Amino acid sequence: VLVKAFSSSFIIPDFRGFCHHLDQIYNSCKNNTNGKVASYIPQLARLKSEHWAVSVCTVDGQRYSNGDVNVPFTLQSCSYVMTYAMVLGLLGAEEVHSRIGMEPSGRQFNELCLDYNNKPHNPMINAGAIMTAALVKPHLSAADRFDFIFNMYRRLAGDEFLGFNNAVFLSEKECADRNFALAYFMRENKCFPEGTRLHETLDFYFQLCSLEITAESGAVMAATLANGGINPLTGDPVLTVDAVRNTLTLMHSCGMYNYSGQFAFKVGLPSKSGVSGCVLLVIPNTMGICLWSPPLDNNGNSCRGVQFCMELVSRFNFHNF
Ligand code: DON
Repeated sequence: VLVKAFSSSFIIPDFRGFCHHLDQIYNSCKNNTNGKVASYIPQLARLKSEHWAVSVCTVDGQRYSNGDVNVPFTLQSCSYVMTYAMVLGLLGAEEVHSRIGMEPSGRQFNELCLDYNNKPHNPMINAGAIMTAALVKPHLSAADRFDFIFNMYRRLAGDEFLGFNNAVFLSEKECADRNFALAYFMRENKCFPEGTRLHETLDFYFQLCSLEITAESGAVMAATLANGGINPLTGDPVLTVDAVRNTLTLMHSCGMYNYSGQFAFKVGLPSKSGVSGCVLLVIPNTMGICLWSPPLDNNGNSCRGVQFCMELVSRFNFHNF
């Protein structure tokens, strides 16, 4: 690290100058009071609108953090990305995509629908994420499955915070009529592998949504995706290169709900948002960014989070194309 610092060979050589821009963008987004905190799960409705956190981790370990970067929040849909990448590593793309499509659905994230092949459209919406959960080591007991995945997430976060919010888990489970409907609809259409235990799979899905991170640990997870699956702080090869490539591709086309096309057009970077107000943004081979602010727009994306991404690419040439 010192050699890199003295020879200015960091991926962002003038990191101090870069941070100055990030401060400005952070402050400009802070004034954005649009959006509403998700209310369909009581525990999420209690999130404070004022929370606003930005954390950055580069692929060579430089860090920037501003705001509520140490306040825990649940991963929600941002877990879809990580679990999908892990399942790709376990089973390979062919087997995973024999059960899940790779097209944007063009529908709401929890809509009761399947694609023309009777599969969930992609792993970034509820139906696809329930299927992804079903594919994680189904032969294990529920407890061993949770241990396995928690350990994988721990490796993604390195030494940073990872928790589990039991109140959110119980609240999710309590308000899950749509997810139950999706799972039964998929079972009716023979989507699941034989022997899938439906209720256990849904519990596992709710548990994944209820994993807790902070903006700082989220930035390290995103940076692991930016770094080809190797955690930049620990050097741990958590995800395979192929899994990362496939995951980033689907984040790019499907990661921001029904705003994914516009986001790809305007920002041009792989990202994933969740109803807790989290946005994970990946600048491949450069850095991972975690943005967190609970008020959501009509598409379900964090208002401040989306504004931050827009302003970032208006100042820096990060758009993929
Ligand atoms: O399934 C649910 O109700 C939520 N926990 C979904 C999480 C989320 O962020 C919305 N996603 N696509």
